[in-house]
Formats: sequence, structure tokens, C-alpha cells
Amino acid sequence: MPTKIHFLLNDRAVCTSEPGGLLVLDYLRKKEHLAGTKEGCKEGDCGACVVLIGDLEGEKVHYRPVTSCLTPLGELQGKHLVTIEGLNLADDLSPVQQAIVAEGGSQCGFCTPGIVVSLTGFLMQEGWDVSPAGIKKALSGHLCRCTGYASLKRAGKILQNTIAKDLVQTKSRIETLIALGALPAYFRDIPARLRALPAMHTEEAALPSEFMVAGGTDIYVQKGEALPEARVKILNLYPEIRGITRQNGHIRIGALTTFEEIAHHPQILEIMPEMPQYLHLIASWQVCNRATLGGNIINASPIGDMTAIFLALEAELVLCEGIKSRSVAIKEFYKGYKKLDKTPGEILTEVVVPVRDRETKFNFEKVSKRKCLDIASVTSAVRVKLDKGAIGDIALTMGGVAPIPLFMRNTCAYLLGKPVSKDTVKGAMPVAQSEISPISDIRGSSDYKRLLVRQFLIAHLCKLFPESVKARDLI
Ligand SMILES: Cc1cc2nc3c(=O)[nH]c(=O)nc-3n(C[C@H](O)[C@H](O)[C@H](O)COP(=O)(O)OP(=O)(O)OC[C@H]3O[C@@H](n4cnc5c(N)ncnc54)[C@H](O)[C@@H]3O)c2cc1C
Ligand code: FES
Ligand code: FES
Repeated sequence: MPTKIHFLLNDRAVCTSEPGGLLVLDYLRKKEHLAGTKEGCKEGDCGACVVLIGDLEGEKVHYRPVTSCLTPLGELQGKHLVTIEGLNLADDLSPVQQAIVAEGGSQCGFCTPGIVVSLTGFLMQEGWDVSPAGIKKALSGHLCRCTGYASLKRAGKILQNTIAKDLVQTKSRIETLIALGALPAYFRDIPARLRALPAMHTEEAALPSEFMVAGGTDIYVQKGEALPEARVKILNLYPEIRGITRQNGHIRIGALTTFEEIAHHPQILEIMPEMPQYLHLIASWQVCNRATLGGNIINASPIGDMTAIFLALEAELVLCEGIKSRSVAIKEFYKGYKKLDKTPGEILTEVVVPVRDRETKFNFEKVSKRKCLDIASVTSAVRVKLDKGAIGDIALTMGGVAPIPLFMRNTCAYLLGKPVSKDTVKGAMPVAQSEISPISDIRGSSDYKRLLVRQFLIAHLCKLFPESVKARDLI
């Protein structure tokens, strides 16, 4: 019997035997003929394809906007998929649509369904303020060729001035949004309907898989053509390897934990309070709702941002195959360009970070062609602690300057034991230059990347120790 995937599509239950690796976008447009979800870039960049996925979490369903062009159908098992058609069952326009119309935020209309879905999804987030910063976050994954973004931000302002106050201190945002006409009434019954869905038939899931998919934000960009026909292991069907806990002085992060979950988790904020700002440089809300820490580390891109961060935290990786499990230091994991200390069958299950004391400081820097939401030219992180005025512990990483995410061993060894001063930074510069080997490519020339490494060294130490070293003395 083929695999059967059971989920709710808008207001109706679906059972499909389509391949689990098929993209949700292709399923919607080609099999369900729901053409409101648009196909634009098919690489997670434009937001035309955004849908909401609702997961049952306790008694409630948590909805997240995601790019359907990078999401496998198989992952919908037991979930609620909401498209623009599912938000639009009433005769009247919803408040989100009315605000966009009022401000001229739609012209050709191609981007509009995705934007309506993201803004509605934003209003559904329990406890979130409808503020200009929030609206900007909601719009972050969307490109519009016609109107520019000022009209959309003004539409957000209308929502702020009209329905925001109703959403404050409400017991259930879903109920309030139904009352305001922003959601159809069927949303009320979704938790009970999700609980009643049959489980996935798993015979095929037990066969060896050709590909593993976590968030899909990298693998679908690289191998999107092959996946729908292949046997795909959908890691998100194993929620036990998701989430963040603290045990015995360590933070344990399940490999499937998304960027968005990491950025706002109290345990992470305790060791890296700036994490939400770093995320702002990395990817849109819609991509961060999908991209996982494990995917970033296993992807082994030399410019992976989370990899640079967790390399500086000197994390341990837990890898499992069947009942066998082992740990490897992330510092030892990368053996060459996309070569890992990992067998093809091993799954990364956990990333374990030792909690250091409060004197330990952390900084992340990234430069890309576009300031935000772009792949880095060079990315870098540092963790440092002083001991009696000198550098007592340091971990410095650079991405985009070698075939692997680079732990700057020689530079760290040079800096260790030295006071933070202009002379120390100057002395470290040639050491750092000698251990990198950047190439010229679309993200910048080799010389430019060398310059960035120099500037990052200065930026890290000037930001963390402004009383000891000033940028103007080094430039
Ligand atoms: C629009 C856009 C912008 C992006 N911007 C950035 C950026 O600024 N910085 C950045 O670093 N990345 C960026 N990315 C890349 C991507 O989002 C990240 O690398 C992400 O962390 C990949 O995670 P994933 O869960 O989506 O991985 P997937 O695509 O699901 O998987 C990637 C690879 O890892 C393997 N894999 C995944 N999880 C596991 C596991 N637990 N065990 C074993 N193997 C596993 C898969 O088999 C696959 O080979 C961007 C992507 C998009 C689409
Ligand atoms: S089609 Fe562009 S983000 Fe999906
Ligand atoms: S209205 Fe035409 S792309 Fe946005």
C-alpha cells in the first residue's frame, strides 16, 4: 500500500498518495488547482508562494508562514495547510485585504496573495505586537515589483490603528480574528479535527531513503528536480529531535530546531542576547520558520551563518544511525569542501553547547551584497573571555574564506594570553591572513574577502571591548 498522507487543506480533510517529496507548491497548483499560491523564484526568495502551516501544540494550533516552494508534501501529515483560498471564504475582503486595497498596495497582484497570507499569519501570533517592526518582519520574505513597499507598510499601519487593540490581551487570537472577519469560522474547529486525523501509513517510510530533508531550504534549491521522484526521509516527522533544553551546564538543541525558534528561546538569549538581530541579517521570517540548525551544519557551506556561530561556541554534534550514537566536536567535523566526519546514514540529532560564565562575550558579523537576508561574502563569530585583563579564552571563526567553515586556530593561539589592545589586534592581522585562502567569486574578490577578515577582527574586539581598543586607531 503506498504511503498515505492525511492533513487538512483549508476547510477540508485530504488523504493523498502523492510522493512525500513533492513540493507543497506543485501539489497545490497542479493537483488541487488552487492557483492563488503563486510560483515565482522557487528558491525561497520572493514570497509569492507563502502558505500557513498549522501544527497542533498542546490544545492550540500554531500557524507559521512558510515558502511552499521549499516544503515537502509529506511533512503535512497531521497538519493544517492554509492557502489564500482558505482565508477568503467570506464575501467581504478581510481587514488585511482591505488595508492593502486602501493604500494601493496591490497593482498586478502577483505578490499579493503571499503577502496577505504572511500578514494574516503575523496577526495570528499569540502575544506579538502589531508594530511597524512586526509588520516589517512579516513582509521580510516578500518581493513586490510594482508598488514598492511604502504602501504595504502603510497598510500595516492601518492594521496597527484599527485591529491591533482588539488583539491585545485577548484569550484567543483565533477567536478575535474570526470575530473581526480576518479568519473564517472553520478555524475554530481545527484543533479537534487535527486530533482526529489518521496516522500516516508507514510501510514505505521504513525503506532506505535516497535523501534526507529537514527544512528543505537548501536541498530543494540544489536538488529540487530530483526530490519529488525520490525516496525522501522527512526528518520533521520525528519531532523528538526538535527543541531546546538545558541540562548539566549544557544547552541541548535538537537538530530540527528552526532558526526562528533558536533566535527567541530564553536559553539561547541568555548566552547570545543579540541573536534576534543576527537573524535579521540571515533570512526572512518565512525561511527562518523552516531552516534548521542541523541543516545548516550538515549542509557544510563555508558561508553558513549558524555554522560560524556554533563553531565559535565550540558545540558538540550528536550523530545517530539506528541505535548507534556518537559525539564529534564541530571543530573536527569539517574535513574538506563538503566532506564531513559522517556516514551517509547518520542523522545529526543534537547540537550541544556548554554554558559558559557571564563574563564570556559573543559577537557575530556578516557582510553580504545586500545588507539583510542575503548569503554572506564573509561571515564571522567570536567568543572571548578575559582573564586578569588578558585574553583568557577565545574562539574565532570565519566563513567564506576557505573550503570549510574555518575555526581560526592560529589567530586564536596568537591572541591567547595577550591584552586587548591596538597592538594585539595589529599583530593578529597577518596571522589571520596567513590561515585563510579565499577565492574570487560572485560574492566578492579574494582581496575583498581578505579585507573583510581584517575588518571583522577589528569590529569584534572594538565592539566587545570599546574601552580597550578603538576602531579609529586601527583604520
Ligand atoms: C532565501 C534563502 C536565504 C538563505 N539565507 C541564508 C543565510 O543568510 N545564511 C545561511 O547560513 N543560510 C541561508 N540559507 C540556506 C539555508 O536556509 C540554511 O543552510 C538552512 O540552515 C538549511 O537547513 P534546512 O533544514 O532547510 O536544510 P535542508 O535543505 O533540509 O538540508 C540541507 C542538507 O542537510 C541534510 N540534513 C539536514 N538535516 C539533517 C540532519 N538532522 N541530519 C543529517 N542530515 C541532515 C540534508 O539531507 C541536506 O543534504 C538560505 C536559504 C534560502 C532559501
Ligand atoms: S516561489 Fe519565490 S519564495 Fe517560493
Ligand atoms: S503588485 Fe505586482 S508584484 Fe506586487
